[in-house]
Amino acid sequence: MMANNLKVMRQALAQGEPFWTLTDSDIHIWVASLEMAHQFLDEPFTLLAPDERARAERFYFERDRNRFIAGRCLLRMIIGGYLGMDPSQIEFAYREAGKPVLKSGPQGKKLEFNLSHSNDLALYIFSRNHEVGIDVEYIHPMPDTDDFAEKFFSSHETELINSLRGEERDAAFFKLWTCKEALLKANGSGLTMPLSHMEISLNSDGSAALSSVGGNREQALRWHLQAFDPAPGYQAAFAVEGYKGQAISFCHINVE
Ligand SMILES: CC(C)(COP(=O)(O)OP(=O)(O)OC[C@H]1O[C@@H](n2cnc3c(N)ncnc32)[C@H](O)[C@@H]1OP(=O)(O)O)[C@@H](O)C(=O)NCCC(=O)NCCS
Repeated sequence: MMANNLKVMRQALAQGEPFWTLTDSDIHIWVASLEMAHQFLDEPFTLLAPDERARAERFYFERDRNRFIAGRCLLRMIIGGYLGMDPSQIEFAYREAGKPVLKSGPQGKKLEFNLSHSNDLALYIFSRNHEVGIDVEYIHPMPDTDDFAEKFFSSHETELINSLRGEERDAAFFKLWTCKEALLKANGSGLTMPLSHMEISLNSDGSAALSSVGGNREQALRWHLQAFDPAPGYQAAFAVEGYKGQAISFCHINVE
């Protein structure tokens, strides 16, 4: 069971011992409100590394700055809970297209992770040994869905979007979009790889599935893809490479 209360997390971190267990058979997903976390955390800036502080200072709007700071603090606190590390001592490295990874865990312990934020919501995904990616989007009416779909979606996906109207259309658009981004973030390429490379199908029960990668159906079998609603008004998806039926747990962070 994951402690999901920020006060409890903070107290447990002070002990310096791991307090969450993530085995090979687990995938953990964390959901948090960034405003809530920023209001609760004392001097969150002090947990950040110099490069993160510099990045925070470059934000023009205070709200965006606070959200970035809270997002990185929560990431550090959660990782600290898995590894038994002081959150401020965690070091990140960045792959070529920007995917953050752990520079080093204690005793070479592996931990794969990814994060995403949109509006007030932050999502995190963790696995011991599998590449993971996550994406969240705040659902809003998209006046230019047609242009987007034609540019970034496959012909099947575009057809699907064009067959829908209003809220249904927005919901389908964001479901496809988050699925694609989650996959691209899992393999670390981000938007450097065309979104149309991954063909997603939406099933009548609301679930999504990866049909092919670059036209290859075999390649799609390497991935577990799951769309979900993390909070009202948001759409999210996560992807796990080489998924072998691990237990997927969701945890909503609170301060109550
Ligand atoms: C990764 C990417 C898809 C993020 O899209 P987004 O919807 O704007 O942002 P999200 O909230 O979903 O994700 C942001 C997080 O993804 C992570 N991330 C960045 N690049 C990533 C990548 N290539 N793969 C996986 N995760 C990545 C970051 O940790 C970031 O969190 P942070 O703001 O705390 O640093 C997009 O930035 C991208 O494609 N980047 C790679 C290529 C690129 O454009 N580089 C810039 C050169 S001009």
